[in-house]
Amino acid sequence: MRMKTFNITAAIVFAATVTSCNHNFDRIPVHETPRVEYAPNMYVSEAYEPVTMVDDSTNKEAYNVMPYNNNSNLRLPVAGTIKRGAIPYHIPKDSLAYANATLVCPLEPTEAVLAEGQVLFNRFCSHCHGEGGEGDGPVNEKLQGVANLKSTALQGVNPGHIFHVITYGKGRMLQHASQLEPLERWKISLYVKNVLQKQ
Ligand code: HEC
Repeated sequence: MRMKTFNITAAIVFAATVTSCNHNFDRIPVHETPRVEYAPNMYVSEAYEPVTMVDDSTNKEAYNVMPYNNNSNLRLPVAGTIKRGAIPYHIPKDSLAYANATLVCPLEPTEAVLAEGQVLFNRFCSHCHGEGGEGDGPVNEKLQGVANLKSTALQGVNPGHIFHVITYGKGRMLQHASQLEPLERWKISLYVKNVLQKQ
């Protein structure tokens, strides 16, 4: 009797092992073998949280969407909010002369600032304008007409003029605001004014 029970148990274990091995779950698309979620409210926050938002309304236990915000838990920032440390810039592209006349540089041209300006200039500007700023970088051979930053006209402008040109571009020079933070643009402007134009 005992042997028989053992045999039956062994047969069941063997059958279960073999059949479960037949299931190659990795090769069956997930939507055909939906996994069971046990007690989802233990690991999905009931509070309104943007990153753990469960918007499947058939999932009664985990659904946690804020109904008063267009069914989204993400809130748009209040109008006028700026990124921490961001310096807003409101002068429009076509007001270069205004930028030149009114912008006040927030940095002093210290040695450290000019050294950083040099690194950034060589990285972002020199391939067109040349390391000395004379418009003779290698790209100028193809592009032609890259401005000489030591020209008499540009000797007469303030750092704000250069800041504005870096921000929006000018003519065939494209904007660099997406690549350079405002303070980096100021460092480059100070480097052009205080180092390159004095060489
Ligand atoms: C892809 C090449 C290219 C790069 C990169 C580039 N420039 Fe220019 N830049 C030009 C060209 C071309 C002009 C002439 C634009 C025109 O007047 O049509 C110009 C013009 C200028 C002027 C003169 C604007 C004026 O008032 O006439 C300044 C200042 C200037 N660039 C600064 C910079 C600085 C600083 C950088 C680096 C952040 C930079 N440029 C990167 C091509 C470039």
